[in-house]
Formats: sequence, C-alpha cells, structure tokens
Amino acid sequence: RRLLGSAGAAGAAGLVAGGAAGAYAAEATRSTPEPLNSLGATAVPFHGRRQPGITTPLQAHGHLIAFDLAPGANRKAAAALLRRWSRTAQELMAGEAPPEDTGIALDAGPSSLTVTFGFGRTFFGKAGLGGQLPEALAPLPDFVSDALDPRRSNGDLWIQIGANDALVAFHALRALQREAADTARPRWQMNGFNRTPGATDRPMTTRNLMGQIDGTNNPKPADDDFERRIFVPEKGEPAWMAGGSYAVVRRIRMLLDSWDHLSLKRQEKVVGRRKSDGAPLSGGTETTPVRLDKVNEDGSLAIAGAAHVRVAAPASNQGAAMLRRPFSYHDGFRDDGAPDAGLLFIAWQADPMKGFVPVQRKLDLGDDLSRFLRHETSALFAVPPGCAPGEYVGQALLE
Ligand code: HEM
Repeated sequence: RRLLGSAGAAGAAGLVAGGAAGAYAAEATRSTPEPLNSLGATAVPFHGRRQPGITTPLQAHGHLIAFDLAPGANRKAAAALLRRWSRTAQELMAGEAPPEDTGIALDAGPSSLTVTFGFGRTFFGKAGLGGQLPEALAPLPDFVSDALDPRRSNGDLWIQIGANDALVAFHALRALQREAADTARPRWQMNGFNRTPGATDRPMTTRNLMGQIDGTNNPKPADDDFERRIFVPEKGEPAWMAGGSYAVVRRIRMLLDSWDHLSLKRQEKVVGRRKSDGAPLSGGTETTPVRLDKVNEDGSLAIAGAAHVRVAAPASNQGAAMLRRPFSYHDGFRDDGAPDAGLLFIAWQADPMKGFVPVQRKLDLGDDLSRFLRHETSALFAVPPGCAPGEYVGQALLE
C-alpha cells in the first residue's frame, strides 16, 4: 500500500511495531506531548484488546460523527459497513492511503490518528438485534438543567476521530463518511480541539476554554481499579461487550461572558482548584490529593461546599468514577453575540449508572460550575472491545 508521506513511512516501519503491547505501553490518560519532529510519525495501533482513542493521550484535533442506518439497511449491511470501516481505520492509523484516496492527508504521517466506533440504543431494533441490547444502554435520565437539541443527540452509530494534525483528522472523517455510502447517513457531526503536543515546554495537562487545567484527577491506568471502572469485565453482559466501554457524549456550552466576569478568586472557588497550576485549594501542587475536609483558619472549608471538584469527586458519589477525555469546541458566535463554545465532554466507564449518571445527578442539583454551563446535546454509545488482525470492530455482535 502507498504510504501517506515520508513521516508515515517512519511511523509504519518503526512506531507501529509492537502491536497491542505497544499500544498499552504508549497509553496514558493525560496529554504527553511528543517532540515536534515526531508528531507526524507517531502511530497508534488499531488492533488490540481495547479500541484506540479511550486511553490514548488526548490529540489536538477531534471529530465526532453520529450516523443513522438508512431505511432498509439490516444487520448484514451494518456488518459489511463495520468491516469496511475497520479496514480503513486500520490503514489510516498506520499512515496508509485507502483505495480511491482523496489526497487530503498526502505528505503527512499518521499523526497519532485514532478511530473509535460505537453503537447507540436505536441501532439494535433497526438491525434486528434487539436481544443483544445492553442494559447499560438504557436512555440517560432527564436532568433539570438539560437544554438538549434532539437532532444533535443520540444516533445509531458513532465514530470518534482524534489526530494531532487537522488535515489527517478531516481526511479520516471524509474517508469514513464516504464509506457509509447507502448504509448509514450522518445525523450530527461536531469538531473539537485540544492543546497541540509540543506547544508547551514540558508535558502538561491540557486547559479548557474557561482556562482551567482539566483532566488532573482522572482515574489512571496504573490505579488498581482502573480496568474495573472503565471497561466491561471479561465475563460481563452482553458477551460481545466484554472488554468494551460506554461513552457518554455531552456538548456542554460554556457561558463564557458570565464566567469571564468573575474575579480569579471566585473562579478558583467555583472549581476548587487554582487556575495557574491546577493545585487544589486545600494545598500542594496539581497532583496533590484533594483534601475535602481541610478547613481554613477562619473556619471555612478550603474547598467550598458546592465547588465542582467536591460535588463531582468519587468520595461524594459512592465511588462513582469515569475517565473524562474531552475536546474543546468553538463554532462561531451566537445571535446574542456570545461564543458558541465549550466542551465536547466524553466520559468513559464500564457502566454509566456507576459513572456519569450519579455524578451528573449531583451536579445537576447545582454545583457552583453548573451555573456557567448548558448541556445542549447528549448521547450514549456502547463501544465494543478492540479487534485482532483479520477481524472487525463489533464482529461478535454482528455475525
Ligand atoms: C474535575 C471542569 C463537566 C466530572 C474537573 C476539574 C475541572 C473541571 C477544571 C478539575 C481538574 C480535574 O480533576 O480534571 C469541568 C468543565 C465542565 C465539566 C469545564 C463542563 C464544561 C463535568 C461533568 C462531569 C464532571 C458533566 C460528570 C458528570 C468531573 C469529575 C472531576 C472533575 C469526576 C474530578 C473530581 C475529583 O475527583 O477531584 N472538572 N467539568 N465534570 N469533573 Fe468536571
């Protein structure tokens, strides 16, 4: 196969080698920037126990796209589509050009491209697979502060694309959308971004559009309970989801005009962490464990009662935890002049009822940050485990 760019050759020959083991060695929950000269050459393996794009370090560019099955498309058509998509994802992630390529990513290496596939609740009935619908795909409950646009929510199929180059990311989006052909049609699509690896002089957790360091207290792969919290157990139900994960996707607009009016001190109190370096207001540095019980000299709580990190913490939610792996977004300005910007919040967990749902229920009752947020779209997808060479993602469900 033709390689996309000379950097791709280096990536395909060297960095892709190692298969699944290489993938896990390279995985981390935080952004770990590469030196600039290896940005394009870095490849993430497609095959492995897990799909890529869950524990892969955050990339600079992202696209989320949901599809609905075309009328009449059945299980067989869906199986053929997932087979096509998996082959193309594997080629693109290795820096290879698929047949009839558009040329958009010529000259560039794989640039840490990842492609992740998921199934929405509505897929199962349409594909005649109602018996395989996971209990964990029950619709998310309504939250009081939701302002959801149903046309940009949910969907039968979902693809998450991430890459450290904007053209490489769009190239993948276009190639996969073209391959959906007559089987599935785009329902909604969103574009996001993160800090570009190499932009800071040392590896740092990325910031969001409120200016906060965001991602610090995520579960870490080295934690004893990481696998159990984020991935469906090997003996889990349904069998085709064993080793998979559930993705909650929320487009959360930030009310930046109101937020930017707050003093720095107020902003820090709302979250419970310092803006400059992300250190908790209970003391220490970014990575110092948060002390929710710490009291100031004047008797007040160091981390306020309604501070975001207190209300969202596992300690406040019977241990509920999720892996947050978001992209920021900016989509121009609204009619009222405010930025249409915020977070494409993506939370990964073994069971949404032990991750996103209880935590959002608590936040919805009114943590201090929620006043500055609007949840505008919502979706939940079952993301099956990764596949071995010769297989495709979702094969155990679709065959
Ligand atoms: C922590 C921002 C929405 C759950 C944090 C932190 C920031 C932040 C700055 C502290 C740093 C860190 O540990 O990552 C935001 C913003 C949001 C948002 C800007 C919306 C635009 C949500 C939602 C949930 C959530 C919807 C879940 C339903 C958490 C959790 C933590 C956290 C679990 C870690 C708490 C801890 O254990 O210390 N968030 N967040 N966040 N957030 Fe959010």
